[in-house]
Amino acid sequence: MSDSPVTSFSAQSSMNALWQARYGTKPPEKPLPESPVARSLMAHRSVRHFSPAPLPEGVVEAAIAAAQSASSSCNLQAWSVIAVRDPARRARLARIAGDQAFIAQAPLFLAWVVDLSRLEHVGYAQGHALPGLDCLDTFLGGVVDTALAGQNAAATFESYGLGIVYVGAVRNQPEAIAAELGLPPRTFALFGMSVGYPDRARPTAIKPRLPQASVLHEERYNPATATDDASIRAYDACLEASRAGARSWSESVVARLGDVGALHGREHLPATLRALGFVLGKA
Ligand SMILES: Cc1cc2nc3c(=O)[nH]c(=O)nc-3n(C[C@H](O)[C@H](O)[C@H](O)COP(=O)(O)O)c2cc1C
Repeated sequence: MSDSPVTSFSAQSSMNALWQARYGTKPPEKPLPESPVARSLMAHRSVRHFSPAPLPEGVVEAAIAAAQSASSSCNLQAWSVIAVRDPARRARLARIAGDQAFIAQAPLFLAWVVDLSRLEHVGYAQGHALPGLDCLDTFLGGVVDTALAGQNAAATFESYGLGIVYVGAVRNQPEAIAAELGLPPRTFALFGMSVGYPDRARPTAIKPRLPQASVLHEERYNPATATDDASIRAYDACLEASRAGARSWSESVVARLGDVGALHGREHLPATLRALGFVLGKA
């Protein structure tokens, strides 16, 4: 099957073509400065149909080196990542994480883990308790570190022509994921990532985003542009037109947040995190 015009955008497309695909609008009159990195990032789309072809040697190591090159709050490096290749374990993870078949299909599943356990160990090794581990900000720092690392890895995989999809559904049942992956206390699987070559028979289109004016503020936050109804309506129409059967963004927001049941268990996360050894306390 040949790529349709919408799915054929890639990191080789022009900055202007990628802008058009990303926003469904003409690019700005002033030319966008050329950048292969920006083109690769702007060509991103989540891949949910994978070829069984194995990953080339070395790409995991390169992606993790890129992940470890991300900035890290106080250089605490409060994350770990677990590479799951075993098909039986991937099948079990697929079931736990929302019955998502692509987790079993893609040759590699990465579980990205907020990891305060290593820091606790470092404190003990020096004879120190670390009350700072119990502060909410330390947990948030771990979340930010893990996300930055994961996104650097995602961009690296995509730069090799591989496809990825994040898997937030690992947070539906964090304790089951922790048991499957042997996670110690004070660790938490923040998201997963399936990685593999995209199935060329099922190409995926770039999903448009909100207009820049909705998210980019100059000097001070501008509630009028952030919540401009005309922009949101235009984006709703753009998303609906991007794929047969696609919901508008406004509909998706209500479907996801209009009933906490749509969080599939994640609404209980504060209690679950405490059960996993996070205190999330004051100070
Ligand atoms: C933290 C995070 C968790 C996600 N979890 C899932 C998931 O469990 N299943 C899924 O199919 N997509 C998941 N996604 C992918 C989003 O649905 C996707 O990024 C979004 O719809 C935008 O589409 P795009 O990535 O193709 O641009 C997740 C994305 C992020 C950033």
